[in-house]
Amino acid sequence: MNTPQAGIFALGTSSHAYLEFDMLDAQKRKEFASTLAAIREPRTTTGGVNFVIGFRPELWRDVAPADAPPDVKGFDQQIQGKEEFIMPSTQHDALVWLSGSAYDVLFDMARSIINDLAKQASLGEETSSWPYRHDRDLTGFIDGSENPTLLDAPEVALLPDGVPGAAGTVLLLQKWKHKVDEWEALPIDQQERTMGRTKLDSLELDHKPSDSHVARTDQDEFGKIFRRNMPYGTVADHGTMFVGFSADQKRLSRMLESMAGLITGTRDALTRFTQPLTGSYYFIPSVESLRSLR
Ligand code: HEM
Repeated sequence: MNTPQAGIFALGTSSHAYLEFDMLDAQKRKEFASTLAAIREPRTTTGGVNFVIGFRPELWRDVAPADAPPDVKGFDQQIQGKEEFIMPSTQHDALVWLSGSAYDVLFDMARSIINDLAKQASLGEETSSWPYRHDRDLTGFIDGSENPTLLDAPEVALLPDGVPGAAGTVLLLQKWKHKVDEWEALPIDQQERTMGRTKLDSLELDHKPSDSHVARTDQDEFGKIFRRNMPYGTVADHGTMFVGFSADQKRLSRMLESMAGLITGTRDALTRFTQPLTGSYYFIPSVESLRSLR
C-alpha cells in the first residue's frame, strides 16, 4: 500500500508558500525530478515544515510512466466562460508547496530549494499565504464547511490502491484576486446570496440561488473534493489561493466549467467579484513514487 504526501492533510498550519517552477532544459527532466524528490524538511520536531511536491501531469508521465494516471492533463488552455469571463492557463512544470507554523522557517527553506534548483529551473510564480480570522477567506466567509473530514478526505483525494499513481492526487492550484471594493459595496444579504451560505456561521441558505457559488460547485452533482484554500497577498492587493485535491480530475475541471457558466449557462456569481489570475494542475505522487526517483 502506498503512502500519500503528508502535507496534503496537514491542517492548521499558519504559513504557506507555493513555488511553481519551469524547467530550463526539457531534456533533463529526470534530473529535475530527482532534485525535487531529494528535498528534505529540517530535522526538528517543533519548527517543522511540510512539503507537497507536484509535477505537471505530462512531465510526471514521462518520468514515471508505470506510476502515472493515464488521463490527467495540465491546465493548457484557458477556459472561455460566459460573458467574456476567462480563467487563464498558467501551467508550470512543478510545484513545491511548503507549510508550517511560521514564515521564517519556510522562508529559509524556500530560498534553499530555489538555490538547489537554480541550474535546472526558474521560479515561474511565488505566492505566500496566511490564515485570516481563524477560518475565513478574504471575502469574510468561513471556507471549508463542506470539506470532508480527515477520516474521509483520503478516499476523496487519493487514487485508490492497485491503479497507476496509487496514493497520488490531482491538485488544482488557482490564484483568485478579489475585487474588494465591489464585494464590500454589496449588502451582507447579497453577499450571502452570492455564496449560498450565511456569513456569520456558514449555514447553507434554504433557497440558494442557482448562480450562488455553492450551487455552481455542488459536490452532490460534481463529486467530492478536498480543499486547502488560503488567503494570499498584500493589504492593497489580495485574494484566495484555491488549493483543491481530487482522486478524479474531472470533478475539478467540471466545477471550473460550471463556475464559468459552461454547464447550465449560469455563471457563478462569485466570479463577478473575484478574478482568476493563474491556473495549473499538478500530479502529487505518493511518497514511494517520489523515493523511487532519488
Ligand atoms: C475566489 C475563489 C473562491 C472562494 C473565495 C471560495 C469560497 C468558498 C466558500 C466561502 C464556500 C462555502 C463554505 C464551504 O463549504 O467551504 C465554498 C464552497 C465550495 N467551493 Fe469555493 N471558493 C473559491 C473558488 C472555488 C473553486 C475554483 C472551486 C472548484 C474548482 C471551488 C469549490 C468549492 C466547493 C466544492 C464548495 C462546497 C460546495 C458544496 O456545498 O458542496 N471553490 N467556496
